[in-house]
Amino acid sequence: MEVIIQQDYERLSRVAAALVVEVLNAKPNAVLGMATGSTPLGLYQELVRLHKQEQLDFSRVTTFNLDEYVGLPVNHPQSYHYFMHQHFFQHVNIQPQNINIPSGTTSNYRSFCAWYEQRIAECGGIDLQFLGIGSDGHIAFNEPTSSLSSRTRLKTLAKQTIDDNARFFDRPEDVPVYAITMGVGTILDARKLILLASGKAKAKAIAQTVEGPITSMVTASAIQLHRDATVIVDEAAASELQMHDYYEFIYAAKPAAPKT
Ligand code: PGA
Repeated sequence: MEVIIQQDYERLSRVAAALVVEVLNAKPNAVLGMATGSTPLGLYQELVRLHKQEQLDFSRVTTFNLDEYVGLPVNHPQSYHYFMHQHFFQHVNIQPQNINIPSGTTSNYRSFCAWYEQRIAECGGIDLQFLGIGSDGHIAFNEPTSSLSSRTRLKTLAKQTIDDNARFFDRPEDVPVYAITMGVGTILDARKLILLASGKAKAKAIAQTVEGPITSMVTASAIQLHRDATVIVDEAAASELQMHDYYEFIYAAKPAAPKT
């Protein structure tokens, strides 16, 4: 796993966007896995800027989002459909038919989840999957004790996640209790993973993810099993990493490292 520590959130977002540019330069029809939440907002802003000012082209890109709340219509301001259109899709030249987001309002969750998995496979799999992390160590909505080989399915949110997300809703009781989410196994199938975390509230989860045991109690720790996983954090989120200085040393030494 590569750990990149950046001074602040703006730099973290720019480094993440540069990795998208790298992937799209190599493969203009790449399949990107998208994340929602506060953390990727800077990344989306930077990608929109690159599209508008430097012609970064999304016309052949396909996207798959990680998750969606159950019960919120697509035009609900807290739905992830709404979030993605508001912060990213409406500002770039992605084809609407290439956007895939789990449905929070399907009449048959089981068959929708199977279809979502099948659709990812039909598109050739995910080239680059972005991830946030919950303060409870979740990736997507894979709450503690989720199977590390789980696939897309319906999940009940953990109390900590409901409390964390209450800030976005008028009343705490408005936070949905269920979500549809890619599984940990689905995520591990992506060819490249990039996990972003910013702020002190994520420091413990990041230390457990990078340096702790692989455990379903911290589903993000499963990324230790992935061959190409990068964690990009700001100083606050990196503050509990025991090997902090070593990660900085590796990153600084990277340009001079022998090219394989
Ligand atoms: P956040 O959410 O980016 O809003 O902190 C991350 C997550 O819960 O996965």
